[in-house]
Amino acid sequence: MSEKLIDGVAIGKEIRSEIKKNVSALIEKGCTPGLAVILVGDNPASRTYVKNKQKSSAEVGIKSELIELPMTVSQQTLLDHIIQLNNDTSIHGILVQLPLPKQIDENIIIQSIDPEKDVDGFHPINVGKMIIGQDSFLSCTPYGIIKLLERTGTEMSGKHAVIVGRSNIVGKPMGQLLLQRDATVTYCHSKTKNLSTLTKQADILIVAIGRANYITDEHVKEGAVVIDVGMNRDANGKLCGDVDFSKAIEKASAITPVPGGVGPMTITMLLKNTLHSAKKYYAQGSCK
Ligand code: GUN
Repeated sequence: MSEKLIDGVAIGKEIRSEIKKNVSALIEKGCTPGLAVILVGDNPASRTYVKNKQKSSAEVGIKSELIELPMTVSQQTLLDHIIQLNNDTSIHGILVQLPLPKQIDENIIIQSIDPEKDVDGFHPINVGKMIIGQDSFLSCTPYGIIKLLERTGTEMSGKHAVIVGRSNIVGKPMGQLLLQRDATVTYCHSKTKNLSTLTKQADILIVAIGRANYITDEHVKEGAVVIDVGMNRDANGKLCGDVDFSKAIEKASAITPVPGGVGPMTITMLLKNTLHSAKKYYAQGSCK
């Protein structure tokens, strides 16, 4: 393997073994971390993500509960499930897999989750706390990317980080977390003019746009660290990122592969958030 490769599987494994030890210690004290996952409908990608989240939870000793609801479920029924989980003392994390069907308002659902159990970090209270630097659940993908940068010894302070993509889940929180680590942050998106002029200034280039192989060597500065959040299929049906890996690696000093880069870190941070939540409930004497 190239020494330029940022190995999310290996780094994820390291962190998961630390999480597993912490989960065991908590279980010995009588508190088993519990994660509830709600899956609505039968989107194959969502089903795969949920399966992986459950499998990874089991591997570190977190108890997970899957609630499957049909595509046609009403918003009220979904809300009723969330309220029940908010009140369930054996559950410390609640995750509603997105996207949701059209009859359901995603914002209403996210806001109905108890912010203290919002292990996805999507609730406006957690987003707000994150922005002002208070302790909160952090959105798992950007949090995982920060851990990748930290564990590969990538300096963030004073560096120019360019983020391509402005989603609530990845792009926006990513910029805030880098800003907190004293990076200078530029956001780019679908309406950005002269994209490559901006991306070529990046010391750290983070790409989350959902377009197969869109970013090439022409977008990358010599020596940049490139993080690819994309998860797409190319014309041959092969899994690929938003970055044309074979071209970008020529310029990058370090780069994440797809698969095996950011993906494993996202799930790892979900486990970390769930552990963190259970620990807090335990400290309050309310982990059953
Ligand atoms: N859909 C795609 N990514 C995510 C995620 O990180 N959390 C949830 N809940 N749904 C998603």
